[in-house]
Amino acid sequence: MMWKGLLHEYRHFLPITEKTPLLSLNEGNTPLIRLERLSRLLEIDLYVKVEGANPTGSFKDRGMVMAVAKAKEEGSHTIICASTGNTSAAAAAYAARAGLRCIVVIPHGKIAMGKLAQASIYGAEIFAIEGNFDESLKMVRRLSEMAPITLVNSVNPYRIEGQKTAAFEICDQLGKAPDVLAIPVGNAGNITAYWKGFKEYHEAKDTGLPEMRGFEAEGAAAIVRNQVITQPETIATAIRIGNPASWNQAVQAASESKGKIDEVSDQEMVTAYKLLAREEGIFAEPASCASLAGVIKQRNNKEISSGSTVVAVLTGNGLKDPAIAIDVAEIKPLVLPNEEQVVFEHIQGAVRQ
Ligand code: F0G
Repeated sequence: MMWKGLLHEYRHFLPITEKTPLLSLNEGNTPLIRLERLSRLLEIDLYVKVEGANPTGSFKDRGMVMAVAKAKEEGSHTIICASTGNTSAAAAAYAARAGLRCIVVIPHGKIAMGKLAQASIYGAEIFAIEGNFDESLKMVRRLSEMAPITLVNSVNPYRIEGQKTAAFEICDQLGKAPDVLAIPVGNAGNITAYWKGFKEYHEAKDTGLPEMRGFEAEGAAAIVRNQVITQPETIATAIRIGNPASWNQAVQAASESKGKIDEVSDQEMVTAYKLLAREEGIFAEPASCASLAGVIKQRNNKEISSGSTVVAVLTGNGLKDPAIAIDVAEIKPLVLPNEEQVVFEHIQGAVRQ
């Protein structure tokens, strides 16, 4: 059977009425891949939920399809969001699909190139302000109150509704909830959504509940430090956020599930990013790798016990941010003349650099 997208497939779990348009770009149904080498190395049963396989390359499509469908149902003509990049790409795509106007406010100079390319080509109106994500979010919250414009950041509850479907898929793919769910934390909407999803599916299907382990970037670890960070900094621009909107819900998810909100350094994220690509053939963006970096950290310090079933959420596709890959990979193309013999000598290792 052809997959028809989240609103169709999970309509009984979503706020869908007869008037809700069943908007879709066939989002969801993303792969859960077992990491064979890293499972062995870490002595756990380790899987990744590859959200980069969604239509715009991140998990944001799950929430955006629901939020944009409801905006359309309610007669809105314009949506607005602040974004570190992925939300704006998803908003722009679903607005194009639904025939709505889309306005995005982004922190100037702090958006990965692929994400900016997406918002542009899908036809969003883009405002890059000289401020960070937290300031952009504050601005769009106010703008959406000044005019009939629908705010589609994750403070819009329909976003959380759509994003919770990833937890349903994990339970269906594994046959039950994992022991541990590891997830990057930025604005903290996604960890909120997963926890809601696991609880609802458990209620309906007795699938069990995981420990929720969320990971902020060390330079933006507001929840871990229990203080707002006014100048957050990290290589993982997607989670360069110092005052998460769903702060309390993230703390609640961690405490109710006997999990934890923790932090990982840029170095730990980059190490996980390279390991994932070279050892497993999976390319996820740096912020995504906060989840895997966190699993490695908490296996080393024994907070995750051996033999556990662990799912790490890979929130976005590696191609979103090609500049970082080129920067951190030691491999660079070797420029050679267009001569078969010269290339052959290099392949044989006959030529010394
Ligand atoms: N990973 C990626 C790739 C993201 O783009 C984001 C958030 C997160 C993780 C964190 O998720 O905010 O729900 O805790 N990106 C937002 C954006 C802020 O604007 O695209 P969260």
